[in-house]
Amino acid sequence: MCGIIGILGNEPAAPRLVDALKRLEYRGYDSAGIATIDASGKMDRRRAPGKLNNLDEAIAADPLAGNQGIGHTRWATHGLPTVGNAHPHVSGPVAVVHNGIIENFRELRQELEAEGHQFETETDTETIAHLIASNLKKGMGEVEAVKAGVARLHGAFALALLFEGRSDLLVGARKGSPLAIGVGEGEMFLGSDALAVAPFTNRVIYLEEGDVCVLSHESYEIFDRKDKPVERAVSIVQGAGAAAEKGNYRHFMQKEIFEQPDSTGRTIGAYTNILRQTVELPGEGADAIDWSEVKYLYMIACGTAHFATRVAEYWFEQCAGLPVKTDIASEFRYREPALAKEGGLALFVSQSGETADTLAALRYCKEQGLKTAAVVNVPTSSIAREADLVLPTLAGPEIGVASTKAFTAQLAALAAVAISAGRAREQISRDAEIRLVRALTELPRLMSTTLQLDERIAELSRDIAKASDVIYLGRGVHYPIALEGALKLKEVSYIHAEGYASGELKHGPIALIDEETPVVFVAPFDGLFDKSLSNLQEVAARRGEVVLISDAAGVRAAGETPASRIELPDCDPFIAPILYSLPIQMLAYHVAVEKGTDVDQPRNLAKSVTVE
Ligand code: F6R
Repeated sequence: MCGIIGILGNEPAAPRLVDALKRLEYRGYDSAGIATIDASGKMDRRRAPGKLNNLDEAIAADPLAGNQGIGHTRWATHGLPTVGNAHPHVSGPVAVVHNGIIENFRELRQELEAEGHQFETETDTETIAHLIASNLKKGMGEVEAVKAGVARLHGAFALALLFEGRSDLLVGARKGSPLAIGVGEGEMFLGSDALAVAPFTNRVIYLEEGDVCVLSHESYEIFDRKDKPVERAVSIVQGAGAAAEKGNYRHFMQKEIFEQPDSTGRTIGAYTNILRQTVELPGEGADAIDWSEVKYLYMIACGTAHFATRVAEYWFEQCAGLPVKTDIASEFRYREPALAKEGGLALFVSQSGETADTLAALRYCKEQGLKTAAVVNVPTSSIAREADLVLPTLAGPEIGVASTKAFTAQLAALAAVAISAGRAREQISRDAEIRLVRALTELPRLMSTTLQLDERIAELSRDIAKASDVIYLGRGVHYPIALEGALKLKEVSYIHAEGYASGELKHGPIALIDEETPVVFVAPFDGLFDKSLSNLQEVAARRGEVVLISDAAGVRAAGETPASRIELPDCDPFIAPILYSLPIQMLAYHVAVEKGTDVDQPRNLAKSVTVE
């Protein structure tokens, strides 16, 4: 959570900092602030609660000079999202912006207060500024003061630090939260990710755990966790800037929904050999896992990524005959689960690759001696670096806080991996593999056709926007899609929604049904359709407002019972959960637009959940 940026530049820093914060706003948007150093070495800051336009206004009313500065967009952890709690935090000559949580800040604060430091905020971050200022007072130089300071911090942090009087110095440090250096021409940058620095440079160095970096306009030095100077590879980042633009779309969420034929197609392309009609896992070391030796598969993730694993559970069981257990990372990590160390494989799914609970669960499994694999969208992320095998999704940067294209890319990658596991375990025939690979390669075309339903879904959303509760039902592999539908609606429209397995309806949830409650059935005409139809009729008999999402045969079979119908193109049942993700995303999007919520940055949320 929280986005940070630092600039040692050759042109006014304030507009560049705000521009970078706009691209980082997906990481948090409770408050924002910047600090700059002018030509005389004087430091000053502006901060504002709420969205970035408030900061923009504060800067317009009282401009900040200087070509160097740091900036922050906040997702509050300690203290309300007020001006006072907004970063940068300052103590003496030190200004700091921070992403993460300092767990021992109370002890440090007591110690610093005893030394005479006066605190102005309730934040953990202010402690860092005072700690480093205290080290400076003890006679340390700036870099030494930072190194000694970070050595005392417990928890997670990415930091960018400025020092009054030092207009050619920017110091960064990372442990547990991502941080990258942007290498420009006579300019240097620090950012939470490549997106932050994309308009300034495409040359990026991803710092490793425990690194401290010292930047001047012309050079950079990196020290590892043992304080040894180290070289880190410079990556050339392509196209990250363009991804942060909305283009002709009204919202990033809408753009990302419409990108899915491409993003899913790219992912499927990376996992399949169309000519040979076979699955080939991408990347080096893809054969690191011998699926014929795997006896038990654990799939661990959070939120939407967890629902991707819930769909994949069916695929791994059916295609590969593999016993699977799925878990929410925040539960898994503290349960001390008994794991099958012999033949157990732990597979983690994460868009950001930085989710704190998922990362902790990965580390737990590694400690337990399990082999690990990760389906991730950010190849330079912590989860990608730490897993034994990386299975990339090629969704491209996802900016909308509600996950859409990353979810379908995760599903596509997991479907391909399940086929590959099925082949290795001799659970599927060559003919079956050809059919499944064909089905996957059909998906982008079917997605494009499905996206044409947008107007029809927008129409339908007007009624749903009036509801205060919505129920989503699905059976089998579509049960997790119902869960995802409810999550999507909740997070962007703030309407209360619940997802259930259709068969579970009569065990309690049916009590919720009345004429005010829309019930969305995700039910293609598959082997379970008749069962779903019975449930649909039970709902209609209780005057529930049924919305059926199905195909032509399903819509025909349901007749006039559902109040509304969304008819998708026919598809192979194997890929249906991926295709049926689109209408539930479109529905959530249009309901949110209808309700006038902040679609791309819903209240209280952040894209990258790097705190537990
Ligand atoms: C919901 C959503 C979240 C994330 C979850 C995990 O739309 O985006 O539920 O799926 O926070 O994030 P990652 O995939 O980055 O680990």
